[in-house]
Amino acid sequence: MKEIITAESAGFCFGVERAVNKVYEEIEKGGEIYTYGEIIHNELVVGDLEKKGVRVLKSREDLAALEKGTVIIRSHGVPKDIYDILSSKPGIRLVDATCPFVSKIHDIVREQSEKGRDIIVIGDASHPEVEGIVSYATGNVKVIKDEEEAQNCEFERGREVCAVAQTTFNLSKFEKLVEILRKKSYSIYDVNTVCSATRTRQEEARSIASKADAMIVIGSRRSSNTGKLYDICRECCAKTYLIQTLDDLNLEEAKSFSCVGITAGASTPKFIIEEVQNYVRRAEF
Ligand code: F3S
Repeated sequence: MKEIITAESAGFCFGVERAVNKVYEEIEKGGEIYTYGEIIHNELVVGDLEKKGVRVLKSREDLAALEKGTVIIRSHGVPKDIYDILSSKPGIRLVDATCPFVSKIHDIVREQSEKGRDIIVIGDASHPEVEGIVSYATGNVKVIKDEEEAQNCEFERGREVCAVAQTTFNLSKFEKLVEILRKKSYSIYDVNTVCSATRTRQEEARSIASKADAMIVIGSRRSSNTGKLYDICRECCAKTYLIQTLDDLNLEEAKSFSCVGITAGASTPKFIIEEVQNYVRRAEF
C-alpha cells in the first residue's frame, strides 16, 4: 500500500489568497479592472480572471497610458514610483493587495535607510518583490543572492548595514549569508523577513522529503517560492519532480515508490493539489 503525505502548508498562502480574493471582489463590483502584473504565477487562475474581463498591465508604459479603471497591486508589491504614477491619475482607483509582510519590509528599509544605514537585500534582484523593496532605500542598497556575492559584497568601512530577506528566501541560506557578511566585519543589523508561511512550508517540505521515496512539488517554474521548495526537497530526496499541473506528471518511473510526498508553492490552487493527490492515490503501482 502506497503512503501519500501531502503537506498541510501546501498551496495558497495568506497573502496570495487575500490578493486573489480582492480581484474577485472587484469583479463583483464591476467596471474596468486591471492587475499590475499577473496576480499570481498560475496560468489557470490568470486565465479564469481574463475570461471575467480582468486585464494585465505588463509594464510601466501600459500603466502610464491608462487613464481610468481599477488597478490592483499584487501581493509582491511594486516599486515606489509605480504608486506615484497611480496616484497622479485622478481616473484610477488603486486597490493595494501588497502582502502586509512585504509592506513591513518596505517600512524597515525606509526607516533603516533614513537612519543612515546601508541596505542589503538578500534575494533575487530581478524578482518584482525585490525590485519593490529596493525602491524604498533612500541611500546605498545592494542585492545579493548567494555565498559568492556575499563574499564579494563591499561597503564603505565603518558604515552600518541592515540586511533583510526576500519573503520567500531560504531561511538557513539567509542566516549563512548574514554570517559571511558579519565575518567581513561589517556592522550588521539583520532582520529576518522570511515570512512565516514560507518558513513553515519549507520546514514541512524538508521533513516530508526526508521520509519520502519520491516528492512532487506543484507550482510554476516562474514562481520563486516554488523553485526554493524544489531545491529544498531535492536536497533530501533525489526523486523530486516539479510539475505545474497533473498533465506534467509522468508516473512511469515512480511505480516502485512506496511513499510519495506532495507539496505546492504559494500560487498553487487547492484543486490542483487535490487532483494530483487523488491521481497518485488511484494510480496502479
Ligand atoms: Fe505574503 Fe508570505 Fe505569501 S509574504 S504573499 S504570506 S509567501
